Amino acid sequence: MNLVLLGPPGAGKGTQAKRLEDALGIIQLSTGDMLRAEVSSGSDIGREADAIMKAGNLVPDALIVGMIGERISKDDCRSGFILDGFPRTVPQAEALDAMLTERNLRIDRVISIDVDDEAMVERITGRFTCAKCGAGYHDSFQKPKVDGVCDACGGTEFTRRADDNAETVRSRLHAYHEQTEPIIAYYAKTGVLKSIDGMAPIDDVTEQMKRAVG
Ligand code: AP5
Repeated sequence: MNLVLLGPPGAGKGTQAKRLEDALGIIQLSTGDMLRAEVSSGSDIGREADAIMKAGNLVPDALIVGMIGERISKDDCRSGFILDGFPRTVPQAEALDAMLTERNLRIDRVISIDVDDEAMVERITGRFTCAKCGAGYHDSFQKPKVDGVCDACGGTEFTRRADDNAETVRSRLHAYHEQTEPIIAYYAKTGVLKSIDGMAPIDDVTEQMKRAVG
């Protein structure tokens, strides 16, 4: 099964993709995580993407399409994948369709997570991640069971993303409405789109996701 998760910054794409990975046994492909790995490694792609991401804008379509094209060809994508953060423009959605058709594949389900913009600023500015295993947390909505200790691996160091500040979140929300939202109409035409309420508590959203996947 091949899934796309759509939604503005903070909608819960990453949180839910990790849960679906476990439930469905298919891999999460986050273009944001891939780009952050490129930035950390100091690669050419990372150098090109760094300032764009810090400003809350989208990196060029050609760069991201090439990256995903390589990634979905790997063996661990054979049983399927969950695209988190891609496609983000109509040209990216068209390029994805073309590369899947070439491989005799298709997108089975697109899940659009509906949320209120204002709540996203609070969600994003409160988000933090275990530096050791990458488990995600939130200052108010998803605290570790023991303060300062990762539930998953026992790590005690946590990081916050460079683009997770109120000003950049507003640019990212603007980019979503201008450039990404038109994809909803693109997928609605193909009959694979389902919308869910992303303002519900995290566990409820997971249940809605599972029902949407079928
Ligand atoms: P990316 O990393 O994809 O960031 P994003 O889309 O802005 O999404 P986020 O990761 O911020 O949010 P999320 O929906 O995953 O929310 P999460 O589950 O963490 O992209 C970063 C940048 O990379 C872009 O700005 C762009 O520059 C570039 N980029 C990436 N892909 C690109 C592409 N295809 N084309 C061009 N450029 C690209 O949840 C957020 C917080 O809320 C967490 O703390 C969580 O615990 C909490 N939370 C989640 N759900 C709930 C809930 N239901 N109730 C309460 N709290 C919740």
